[in-house]
Amino acid sequence: MTAPLATRVLNADAAAIAAAVRCLTAGGLVAFPTETVYGLGADATDGEAVARLYQAKSRPTFNPLIAHVVDLAAARTLARFNADAEKLADKFWPGPLTLVLPKAQDCPVAELATAGLDSIAVRVPCHKVAQQILKAFGGPVVAPSANRSGHLSPTTAAHVLADLRGRVDLVVDGGATPVGVESTIVACLDEPALLRPGGVPRDAIERTLDRPLVSPRPAAASHDAPLAPGMLASHYAPRAKLRLDANEVESGESLLAFGPVLAAGTERAVGVLNLSPRGDLIEAAANLFAHLRALDDAGAKAIAVMLVPHEGIGEAINDRLKRAAAPR
Ligand code: TXA
Ligand code: MG
Repeated sequence: MTAPLATRVLNADAAAIAAAVRCLTAGGLVAFPTETVYGLGADATDGEAVARLYQAKSRPTFNPLIAHVVDLAAARTLARFNADAEKLADKFWPGPLTLVLPKAQDCPVAELATAGLDSIAVRVPCHKVAQQILKAFGGPVVAPSANRSGHLSPTTAAHVLADLRGRVDLVVDGGATPVGVESTIVACLDEPALLRPGGVPRDAIERTLDRPLVSPRPAAASHDAPLAPGMLASHYAPRAKLRLDANEVESGESLLAFGPVLAAGTERAVGVLNLSPRGDLIEAAANLFAHLRALDDAGAKAIAVMLVPHEGIGEAINDRLKRAAAPR
């Protein structure tokens, strides 16, 4: 057990960006906002910093990390782009899309960060604070979501502190993250494959590629080198049990609602939060993890979750809800 760190929290101004860069350069761990969720950053080329990052999150080292870079030119120093990858980067970067690509020959990212695979996950975030840090640092930054492994992803600095205070050096507070679910992950190794639904909806990607994304077969996910090793069935685990597609609230349950018409028996719910009273999926994604945390922290034994339409970013919302509800 290592001694707890004195975690500093700074508002995202110029001094905070400079402190973040000093910290990364010294091999430290910096949590910062991206447009999707808060990331926990470390210098991707520093194997010891990457090892500290795995330890801070209690993350299994077979689960590789996403390298964040400031732009496409920087991404090309890490990975090789085929024609599909070029189209997607051109259309969606900077933004909430991660590409899994063959590692470039002289890729400087530490082996530990890619879990020994010959592919690498790369992303160019569009959040102003993330961009400022990446630009000022000048190199790739690995950044998993800034939560303990298996917990809900953080969309505020307070969420980061609840999980990681004493385990990271610095938290740069840039307010709530706008998208609220993690980036979409697409592998461009052969046929483009959707590894994780996320901030960019599937149909936007398919329109750009002008063909459907293939799904990694479930069999592939159980191999030693799974396609997206982090996509375990149980993830995002709140303490409360989740009951999905509920149209009625049972006694003792809280309600995670969606839309203007509430589930039957809402009056007996222990607590009620609505992902989007007007039924807007973008708003629902932005509220998802914060509402789940709030209902969980309020101590309900179970949370009934109303049906969320499986269109656009709804696919990512339903993916996270399914994992949060999975038996563990
Ligand atoms: O929105 C996001 O992507 C956030 C923010 C902070 O950028 N980051 C994030 O990282 O969600 P993380 O570590 O929580 O999820 C990364 C996922 C994991 O499921 C991991 O297994 C997968 O990316 N991954 C990383 N490298 C991979 C590779 N070479 N092949 C397949 N999957 C990979
Ligand atoms: Mg995560």
